[in-house]
Amino acid sequence: MTKVIRIEANNINKNLIKEASNCLKAGNLVAFPTETVYGLGANALDINAYKKIFIAKNRPSDNPLIVHLGTFEEISRYVKSIPSEAKTLANKFWPGPMTLLFESNGVIPRQVYGNLDKIGIRIPNHPIALALLKDSSLPICAPSANTSGRPSPTKASHVIKDLNNKVDIIIDGGDCLFGLESTVIDITNNKITILRPGAITLEMIQELFPNACQANTQKKNSDKKVLSPGMKYLHYCPKAKVILVTGNNIKYKINEYTKTNNINNFIVFCSPSSAKKIKNMNTKVLGSNVQECAHNLFDFFIEADDNHIEYIFVEEIEKIGIGRAVMNRIERAKTEIL
Ligand code: TXA
Ligand code: MG
Repeated sequence: MTKVIRIEANNINKNLIKEASNCLKAGNLVAFPTETVYGLGANALDINAYKKIFIAKNRPSDNPLIVHLGTFEEISRYVKSIPSEAKTLANKFWPGPMTLLFESNGVIPRQVYGNLDKIGIRIPNHPIALALLKDSSLPICAPSANTSGRPSPTKASHVIKDLNNKVDIIIDGGDCLFGLESTVIDITNNKITILRPGAITLEMIQELFPNACQANTQKKNSDKKVLSPGMKYLHYCPKAKVILVTGNNIKYKINEYTKTNNINNFIVFCSPSSAKKIKNMNTKVLGSNVQECAHNLFDFFIEADDNHIEYIFVEEIEKIGIGRAVMNRIERAKTEIL
């Protein structure tokens, strides 16, 4: 049985945090809010605990989990060394929506991170996540709290629907601020590469390191060695088919497509101006800026599934700032481009 506990982010009930922290210490699973998406947490040092994450999510064992820590000082317990670039990035962006990869010293078992040499570490910036990390004094491994391949949860209700009875405690701490997962960054031989775009954007990182670059994150369904194993799996997919609509004339393109394919049950996620132009269709404004689009995307995907929508047409958004991360998730969820 899953127990849902409500904790106010701005008025934290220490007894409830203690209850969740004891649950983690006992080797069980706790879903908790972070500023990016909800995480499904377990004690990263306890083999029986982190195994439960892979089972609950139906997650391939080679897809590495991110380890969450409460403070920068703790990192040295788990890594061989801390490159100077990592210190600079950490100073600027932690606690926050950024995951850095470090050479692991093996103290956290390698099964947690797909038997790789590097371990992804993040210090989240959410009062509930930080309270849980502090109270438990544990490294908490936590992927997004969704069944593998599905959109990440940005509200407790998403987790309750998706993982009910597979998790011991779900902490309801309200909506996640950003709504997309953290930026994953690799540092190898002084070279900084973004493996997964997020709220800490390429532009923000290039202000510190002008040569930082974005890895190619195109969908790969092969077993070919990829920088980040998560990249080769289908991701973020609602049950509805997602169709990306690019360029101008979106009304015409969607009209043609739906007529040709005899589709009636669909919704269009678009900008406020496009919504005005296509009043005759079922539309939903994804956001009036890229931040709002990020915040809403997964929530809207999940809502469309709840409403048994068959097709979601998503208007392309500008690839600037967090818009790059939004487009990355849409591109990986899509089945077609118009
Ligand atoms: O915002 C987030 O990062 C959320 C919250 C809960 O912190 N977590 C999250 O975890 O999104 P997850 O497991 O859903 O996505 C983590 C992805 C993996 O699929 C993998 O591609 C990459 O991050 N990753 C993690 N550790 C890695 C490693 N050691 N090497 C390469 N890629 C890694
Ligand atoms: Mg995930």
